[in-house]
Amino acid sequence: MKKIRINSIDSPLELACRDEGAGQPVIFLHAFPLSQQMWNEQAAALSQTNRVITFDWRGFGESELRGDRFAMDLLAEDLAGLMNEIGIDRAVVCGLSMGGYAAFAFYRKYADRVKALILADTRAGADNEEGKRARLEMAELALQSGASAVADRMIHRLLAPVTLQNKPAIAERVRAIIAGNRPETIAAAQRGMAERPDSTELLATISCPTLIIVGSDDALTSPNEAEKMRDQISDAGLVVISEAGHLSNLEQPDDFNRAVANFLKQL
Ligand code: MLT
Repeated sequence: MKKIRINSIDSPLELACRDEGAGQPVIFLHAFPLSQQMWNEQAAALSQTNRVITFDWRGFGESELRGDRFAMDLLAEDLAGLMNEIGIDRAVVCGLSMGGYAAFAFYRKYADRVKALILADTRAGADNEEGKRARLEMAELALQSGASAVADRMIHRLLAPVTLQNKPAIAERVRAIIAGNRPETIAAAQRGMAERPDSTELLATISCPTLIIVGSDDALTSPNEAEKMRDQISDAGLVVISEAGHLSNLEQPDDFNRAVANFLKQL
């Protein structure tokens, strides 16, 4: 793990980053409220054939916290700043859930830096008023009761029932990653996501090869949402991972890695 000092739009800051393997670069954008640790299995497998970059978004994991509202545009600027520092002009960008929201923001501004997109367990639409309220409530929960309370609130929606029942080690790992985050970071990310713009109209403008992945039992961003995205992006394929929920890459890493590896081979 390296600490990379980047220039972003607010000020310079240090992001914790892992950079392994060689070949076509693939950058993985982690979900809320996790960290780059969620990509361990992808980094291990896919760095055999590609340069694989994972990093902690600002404030998450071991990255420096700056600001109290992480707009998706700000995260996109952090990603651009990181790519500049590690010498990557163009990459395959793979975002899961919040990582996908940030990937949309990045594509909106830097389409020429995206060789291909992988959109996993994410959606293009913005939040409705109820969804925004729920985010601000969770920001309060984090600040009042800590990150473990957020883990308790979210774990049943992040993982499929079959994972919770048969793979307790995965649930423990997810809880530990969430509990390791700062409450202020969780609150700042929720405030930023609440304000994210609707990216539905962006979908028709995406011209790079795109792979959409979704867990069959994803309770947060459903296979139905994934199909809608596939239908609106001109060069998109869809892989549904069975016996997986929202964190499909953690719940079924072999299936997830196979889908990504097959996609990368065709680029
Ligand atoms: C995530 O997995 O990144 C979050 O569940 C996204 C969200 O809260 O919309």
